[in-house]
Amino acid sequence: MGLDLILGIETSCDETAAAVVEGGRRIRSNVIASQMELHQRFGGVVPEIASRRHVELILPVIDQALRQAGVTLADVDAVAVTQGPGLVGSLLVGISAAKALAFARRLPLIGVNHIEGHIYANFLAHPELEPPLVCLTVSGGHTVLFYVPRFGEYEVLGTTRDDAAGEALDKVARILGLGYPGGPAIDRLARGRDPRKVDFPRAMLDEGYEFSFSGLKTAAVQRLERARRQGEDVDVADFAAAFQEAVVDVLVTKALRAARDKGVRRLIISGGVAANSRLRERLLVEGRAAGLEVYWPPLELCTDNAAMIAAAGYFRLQAGERSPLSLNAEPNLRLR
Ligand code: KG4
Ligand code: ZN
Repeated sequence: MGLDLILGIETSCDETAAAVVEGGRRIRSNVIASQMELHQRFGGVVPEIASRRHVELILPVIDQALRQAGVTLADVDAVAVTQGPGLVGSLLVGISAAKALAFARRLPLIGVNHIEGHIYANFLAHPELEPPLVCLTVSGGHTVLFYVPRFGEYEVLGTTRDDAAGEALDKVARILGLGYPGGPAIDRLARGRDPRKVDFPRAMLDEGYEFSFSGLKTAAVQRLERARRQGEDVDVADFAAAFQEAVVDVLVTKALRAARDKGVRRLIISGGVAANSRLRERLLVEGRAAGLEVYWPPLELCTDNAAMIAAAGYFRLQAGERSPLSLNAEPNLRLR
């Protein structure tokens, strides 16, 4: 039997997602049921609520993914599911569904690293794209720079020592009263603004590939509190633009440094923050000036989805890898 048609399942955080991908690169369906509204009033994802909602949504979402792809379970060749990292209660819902389907239909099963999935969003979007390359993965939970010498091989160059970039953006958006998730709101407000109106620190800019965003976040919180205490007017858009610029500055500097040091010609970005228009704009301009091709996925593949999980799973299955039916959630899974 060939391994052409993969059913992907993703429930690592607050999106219940299923997708059917053909040949690792052709999306037949990509269904995402967002729980955003459920969590919005809490200002962040509530794990217990997320897993309960996944339980309600997982089967209808899988059904819809099959229907939209115009296939039935009998046509599916294998099941790929996010194993981690993520919220354990959320991960377990997708993993249980995947295991049940694999067992009932005697299908190969493959557990996929969520971060590897984010990288594969780029291979889905750009069929001609191939390693070697450097990848910057930035989301609400992760900030990682990788060197990818060939398919399926990863060298972690640097990660964040504290907060993820998206987490910092979300936090500052919240104190600015912009709601959750805050990244898109900051992006929108900052457009066309002068980012130099407020001065923010850039941590560890001059060396290496490690990131730190908690100092920047604290600086923003303190500045805002001081201004409010003293009755000063804070221009929210200027503040958002300056904060975003500080985050983007560090991301761009380190990504370009990694690409230069590794001698690659391609730089890709992935994860929810890869949707940020300022990050894209600066990487494009500065990347081109450095002789780099810069790639990112379309918006719907930047944030969590199951097509990227199916795509990453496809390549692992092709390489002969299989997961046992004892597959378990790994909330802190590392990329090897
Ligand atoms: O990849 P993702 O959907 O979930 C995680 O795995 O974390 O990323 C969500 C993150 C949130 O922090 C959100 O604020 C951020 O991505 N984000 C953005 C933008 N769109 C989403 N941040 C900045 N600018 C955007 N346009
Ligand atoms: Zn993600």
